Amino acid sequence: MTTDGRDFLAITDFSTPELRGLFALADRMRRGEYLKRPLEGKAFAMLFMKSSTRTRVSFEVGAWQLGAHPLFLTPRDVQLGRGEAVADTARVLDRMVDGMMIRTFAHADVEEYARHSRIPVINGLTDLQHPCQILADLLTVQQHFGRFDGKRIAWIGDGNNMANSWCDAALRLGFELRLACPPGYDPDPAILARAQASGHVTLLRDPREAVEGVDVVTTDVWASMGQEEEQAMRAAAFASYQVDAALMARAASSAIFLHCLPAHRGEEVSAEVIDGPQSRVWDEAENRLHVQKAIMAVLMGGEPLE
Ligand code: CP
Ligand code: NVA
Repeated sequence: MTTDGRDFLAITDFSTPELRGLFALADRMRRGEYLKRPLEGKAFAMLFMKSSTRTRVSFEVGAWQLGAHPLFLTPRDVQLGRGEAVADTARVLDRMVDGMMIRTFAHADVEEYARHSRIPVINGLTDLQHPCQILADLLTVQQHFGRFDGKRIAWIGDGNNMANSWCDAALRLGFELRLACPPGYDPDPAILARAQASGHVTLLRDPREAVEGVDVVTTDVWASMGQEEEQAMRAAAFASYQVDAALMARAASSAIFLHCLPAHRGEEVSAEVIDGPQSRVWDEAENRLHVQKAIMAVLMGGEPLE
C-alpha cells in the first residue's frame, strides 16, 4: 500500500506545470507510446454512489491496463448503502487498496474520504466538480487544435459541476472561458469569483454573445444527477440555451463541439450538432481513459510529471 496520499479532488490540486505534465503524459498514452505498468500488483477501488458509463469503464480499463486490480463498489453492495460512516469506509479501504476513486453527491464527502485515507483519492464527479472530465476535454482540444493556449471556449447552460471545473481550468491554464448561464443557474460563487479575478473568465446571459468567434462550444444536461425532480422547471429556464446549428454558426468556422455525455438530443444540444461534423464527443469520451491513466500512474505509480 502506498502512503503517498496525494489526492485529485479538483483541477486546482495540480499546479500549472503539473497540469501541463499530466497532458503530456496522457497524450503519450493516447498515442500508444506509454507501455509501462506502474500499478502492477496494486488494487484500485472505485466507489460509485451515482450511475456511470464512461467514468466506470475508463477507470476500470485504465487501472487494468496499468497493472492494477480494479474493484467496482456501489451502495447496493457495500455497507455505506446501509449507513456505515464515510470515514470508517475510508479507513478500511485505506488498509486494503492502493488508491481509490469516488463518485458521489456532496463534495464534502470526497474531502472527508481524502482526510481519512493515506492512499490517493480521485474525484470521479461530485455535485461541485468533475475534474477528470475537464482534463479529458482539454486533451481533446489539444488533440484537435495542437494546443489549448489562446483558445476561446464557450460554456452554454447550467453552471454545474462541469462549469465549475472549467472555471478552475481557465484559472490554472489561462485560456479564455465565456459562460452563458440563465439567471439563478450560475457556477459556484466562490469558484466563479476566483476564476473571474484571473481575468480569463466572463459570465454572460446571452448564449449568442458567448459563442461569438469561439473555438470550442460545450454544454451539458440541464438537470444533473440528483436534480431529476427539477427537470420540468429547468427545461423552461434553459429553453433558449440549446446548442443548435444556428448557435454553432456564430462560433469560428473551425470550432468544435464538446459534451461530456450522456446527452439529451433536442434539449441542451440538437442532434444535428452532436452528430454533425464539428462534434468531437467520441474523442472526448475516449480521452477519459488516457487522462485518468495519467492521473493514476502519477498518484499511485510514482510516474514523474516532466
Ligand atoms: N461524462 C461522464 O462522466 O459520464 P458517465 O456519467 O457515464 O461516467
Ligand atoms: N453534470 C452532469 C455530468 C454527468 C457526467 C451530472 O452531474 O449529472
